[in-house]
Amino acid sequence: MRYHRSMKKNSNSHSAPLTLLGGISAETFLKEYWHKKPLLIRGAMPDFEGFLTPNELAGLACEEDVQSRLISYVKKVWKLEQGPFAEKRFAKLPDRDWTLLVQSVNHHMQEANDLLQQFNFIPQARLDDLMVSYAPDGGGVGPHFDSYDVFLLQGCGQRIWHISEQEDLTLVEGAPLRILKHFNTEQTFTLSAGDMLYLPPQVAHWGIAVGDCMTYSIGFRAPTAQELAGKFLDYLHERRRLSGRYADPELAPQANSAVIGQAMVAQVSSILDGLKWGDEDVADFLGQYLTEPKSHVVFDSPKQISQQAFEKRMKSQGIQLSFKSQLLIANHVYYLNGEAITIEADAENLLAQLSNTRKLTPQEMAEATNLGDAFIAEMHAWYLAGCIIFLQ
Ligand code: SIN
Ligand code: CO
Repeated sequence: MRYHRSMKKNSNSHSAPLTLLGGISAETFLKEYWHKKPLLIRGAMPDFEGFLTPNELAGLACEEDVQSRLISYVKKVWKLEQGPFAEKRFAKLPDRDWTLLVQSVNHHMQEANDLLQQFNFIPQARLDDLMVSYAPDGGGVGPHFDSYDVFLLQGCGQRIWHISEQEDLTLVEGAPLRILKHFNTEQTFTLSAGDMLYLPPQVAHWGIAVGDCMTYSIGFRAPTAQELAGKFLDYLHERRRLSGRYADPELAPQANSAVIGQAMVAQVSSILDGLKWGDEDVADFLGQYLTEPKSHVVFDSPKQISQQAFEKRMKSQGIQLSFKSQLLIANHVYYLNGEAITIEADAENLLAQLSNTRKLTPQEMAEATNLGDAFIAEMHAWYLAGCIIFLQ
């Protein structure tokens, strides 16, 4: 593993007003709203109508490697079906009160990646995915809360959002999805195409379609402390080797042989004290954990081409991370899809650029002084593994 100590300073300005945030800057948004309170942004993306038709969304929901759900509310009962769906399932649906949700649309479409790029004022380490939903009139997933920061961007049609910062987050028992037992609307907004509602985690909400409607949810996951600790303990388990073994040459007789004696407890405690870690371990853990592809993700293999042919096309067309790839930097080490990577130190600026914008244009490569053979060979290997593709 090679360490890169001189990261180029990110040149993005985060103090400029953004239409996406209703005329406030990313800096102000993060300070005043992010993870704190809701924000309604009218005309966040003035020309946005979505980039998927309901039929295209249903098509995605029929694919094997796409996670999708169909939620309906029939006779006051919530019903959940998991995809992938057979095409004929969509022919049998009623006129109202159901919704189709497709996760990780950014794993499948360039337009989704372009949309997410507009939110790059939030670290990629927090990004989960873009979920897209379609619902006919009355459709929705019921009153609930999420453990996500979410930007709910309205595509075609309209949706009424009821929101509440209520403390009572008790869920209906036995329901197939997370539905709040009591929901007390505090504010109501009707969103049209291009409007966006930002919600921090735990804010109760309920979106109901007004006629046909599509919603694009840009979700930023906040893992629980329990999950982080569990995964970190797994990480330590795989990497730590403690020497020695439990030993009791001083063993004394005890009245009840079933008792785990204090001496044993003390000795095991002192063995466990040998498990030490520092920020460097935590950074390495985060780099691997946060870039690890989810279990259902399959990388597409490209047409095999020689390094020479790859280099020619890379320089003329540019490259980008493939839709399912995640490249993050922790403590100056680069992590790609769950693994720390070794790369020539002088390729660092190119890699920093690729990680930040997920692409390298022909111009950026022409201007680079460090586009050496080692970097090209590495990119060729990434290409053959399906981690990068040619710029689209
Ligand atoms: C939806 O798009 O219908 C649901 C989004 C959400 O409530 O989180
Ligand atoms: Co929600």
